[in-house]
Amino acid sequence: MAQQNSNVNSLIIFCFTTLFVITETHAVPLKELVEHQGHGSLKKLFVFGDSYADTGNCKKSVSGSWKPPYGITFPGKPAGRFSDGRVLTDYVASYLGIKSPIVNDNRRNSVKSSQVMDGMNFAYGGTGVFNTLVNEPNLTTQVKFFEQLLEEKVYSRQDLISSSIALVSVAGNDYGTYVFQKGNLQDLPTFTKSIISQLVVNLKSIQNLGVQKIVVTAMEPMGCLPRLAVFSSYKNCNESWNSVSKFHNQILQQELQNLNNASNNSVFVSLDLYSAFMSALTRQENNSGNSEVRSSLEPCCVGVSDNYSCGSVDEKGEKKYKVCKNPELSMFWDNIHPTQSGWNAVFSALKSSSLPKLH
Ligand SMILES: *[C@@H]1O[C@H](CO)[C@@H](O)[C@H](O)[C@H]1NC(C)=O
Ligand SMILES: *[C@@H]1O[C@H](CO)[C@@H](O)[C@H](O)[C@H]1NC(C)=O
Ligand SMILES: *[C@@H]1O[C@H](CO)[C@@H](O)[C@H](O)[C@H]1NC(C)=O
Ligand SMILES: *[C@@H]1O[C@H](CO)[C@@H](O)[C@H](O)[C@H]1NC(C)=O
Ligand SMILES: *[C@@H]1O[C@H](CO)[C@@H](O)[C@H](O)[C@H]1NC(C)=O
Ligand SMILES: *[C@@H]1O[C@H](CO)[C@@H](O)[C@H](O)[C@H]1NC(C)=O
Repeated sequence: MAQQNSNVNSLIIFCFTTLFVITETHAVPLKELVEHQGHGSLKKLFVFGDSYADTGNCKKSVSGSWKPPYGITFPGKPAGRFSDGRVLTDYVASYLGIKSPIVNDNRRNSVKSSQVMDGMNFAYGGTGVFNTLVNEPNLTTQVKFFEQLLEEKVYSRQDLISSSIALVSVAGNDYGTYVFQKGNLQDLPTFTKSIISQLVVNLKSIQNLGVQKIVVTAMEPMGCLPRLAVFSSYKNCNESWNSVSKFHNQILQQELQNLNNASNNSVFVSLDLYSAFMSALTRQENNSGNSEVRSSLEPCCVGVSDNYSCGSVDEKGEKKYKVCKNPELSMFWDNIHPTQSGWNAVFSALKSSSLPKLH
């Protein structure tokens, strides 16, 4: 169990971030986003959640995302993203035709109206719907930060009604924390329901502020994350954990439908990260005829032993991690997070799987 705990521990430290929902019964979220906003209109993206969405809010002094080798592909040095390069938020922003929004943390130093125009990122790696093992703001607190900006008139309600989208990525760290504290997966369905009922409260708050489109990530297949796949020497995904993701996504989907039904429109959409990760992994598997590419579940950057992880240095400042030669050939950057190339593949899958479903 110690081993299990240390896994979960690094899962948390490295900040997990996801909010993903299944799109089976939904019209295509991505296409809808663009249509909803209308081409050429000003759009603002507000981002909440964990490390899949954080682009630099976590504190420099504590977060691995600010240490080498994070950021080596983009922007070329560590800059607070939990990857070698771009993350989900960057792909969503690019799809909307806007710049990746500035992080909330920067705002305190320098507020220029031109900088807040594209929206703001309130996501903090390691956080969840509930408090986790990291001392950073949970989802409720992140939404409060957003409310404060309306009170301070950085944004008006009218701004939000006419041109805003929220992206919410949560729950991975909630699960990580639960297992760290309990040591097993027992009573997890009850916990899933409590995560989602709190999430619904937060989503309604965002809606009540005026946001007209709220995109929530479904859980990625947690059992395929290298942190868990390592137990099969990266050969297999852990099916127990994948079932947890599937159950979460099923409940999430139901609740989003209820929310949409209650408001008589489709404010809430989910991003099916489960299928998108699976499809990106399959693509990776197909490429592995090339001997350069290792198992698709094996991360590019790893600690030299169990005591270390990607980015670790010892007391003497010596590197205690190894980085693969070609991060663009790996799906995963570290034990939890996709590479930029992995996110690119995930985002392509989201686009191509959803678009044909448009009626
Ligand atoms: C979020 O964090 C605040 C401050 O730590 C805490 O008071 C609140 O209970 C937390 N909310 C949830 C839903 O865990
Ligand atoms: C999958 O994860 C569960 C829960 O952490 C663990 O009990 C089980 O041994 C794992 N299975 C494999 C094949 O690693
Ligand atoms: C949607 O809402 C209406 C009225 O609030 C209710 O009668 C109906 O059963 C709901 N449909 C679903 C699918 O939940
Ligand atoms: C829901 O929307 C439909 C079509 O836009 C409209 O006819 C209906 O009155 C609305 N119902 C409620 C409860 O707002
Ligand atoms: C992987 O290869 C198989 C067989 O060539 C092909 O049918 C499938 O579409 C490929 N999948 C991806 C995601 O490229
Ligand atoms: C890892 O750390 C533990 C305790 O801190 C120590 O006992 C062990 O020897 C270390 N293992 C390696 C491979 O450095």
